Amino acid sequence: MSGFVSLIGAGPGDPDLLTVRAARTLAQADIVFYDALVSAETLALAPRAQRFGVGKRCGRAAIRQETIHALLIRAARRGKRVVRLKGGDPFVFGRGGEEALALAAAGVAFEVVPGLTSAVTAPALAGIPVTHRGVASAFVVVSGHAESSFRPVLESLAPGVATIVVLMGLHARAALAALLLGRGMPARTPVAILFGASTEAAAVWRGDLASLGAAVIPEAATGLPGTIVIGEVVSLADVIAARSNGSSSQWQEERRHARG
Ligand SMILES: C[S@@+](CC[C@H](N)C(=O)[O-])C[C@H]1O[C@@H](n2cnc3c(N)ncnc32)[C@H](O)[C@@H]1O
Repeated sequence: MSGFVSLIGAGPGDPDLLTVRAARTLAQADIVFYDALVSAETLALAPRAQRFGVGKRCGRAAIRQETIHALLIRAARRGKRVVRLKGGDPFVFGRGGEEALALAAAGVAFEVVPGLTSAVTAPALAGIPVTHRGVASAFVVVSGHAESSFRPVLESLAPGVATIVVLMGLHARAALAALLLGRGMPARTPVAILFGASTEAAAVWRGDLASLGAAVIPEAATGLPGTIVIGEVVSLADVIAARSNGSSSQWQEERRHARG
């Protein structure tokens, strides 16, 4: 019997933000290989599966990407229903494409189950639309992991044409600010950093391009993943976040209760 691999995006953390297909697939899985940012609540949706953390923050040295490929292929060849569970969307800075190519090369059957990427979801949950008529007609997502990956992209953008979203960019905030100011972006351009979006620990830093470089990460946000948003759309949170998060409706309460 040949097995099957589902490359699943787990969204930003809250299991309520999984797709229905992701939840159904997890419930049937025999084995789950998950990344560090996948929440315990999400893993609990795979009660009959063996679960293995293979991410960088899973309390051990990072497992090499090739080893993860081999683990997926071996489990599938043993006839298992395998889930590869990754934070956000598997194809957004998640190396999901490499895993799909490795499975294809090995002749293993697989599917991709997209997830809500933090690039859009973290801003949305903080009341920031990444595009907004008359304010931003595009958004650009870059990785702050290495300057060589974001510099060419940001240097090719005219100042102010698009909202800029940076994943994995906390350590690079000073370099990002210097680059954008040097490109002529106004120092007063609003900026938000969204920490642990969708989790109970969620926190937000608000400032502008002038203060981004020296932004102090709130103590409560230490160790949480952070997404940086740069652009005039950030100001819309003043109204949208205040109305959407500040008021708790009876309906929301009932939903929380139903979830348990
Ligand atoms: C390796 S990238 C993976 C991105 C993922 N594939 C996605 O689509 O969201 C990890 C980065 O995503 C962002 N991130 C993930 N979860 C987040 C969350 N709950 N809140 C804010 N940012 C998050 C952070 O920038 C973090 O460094």
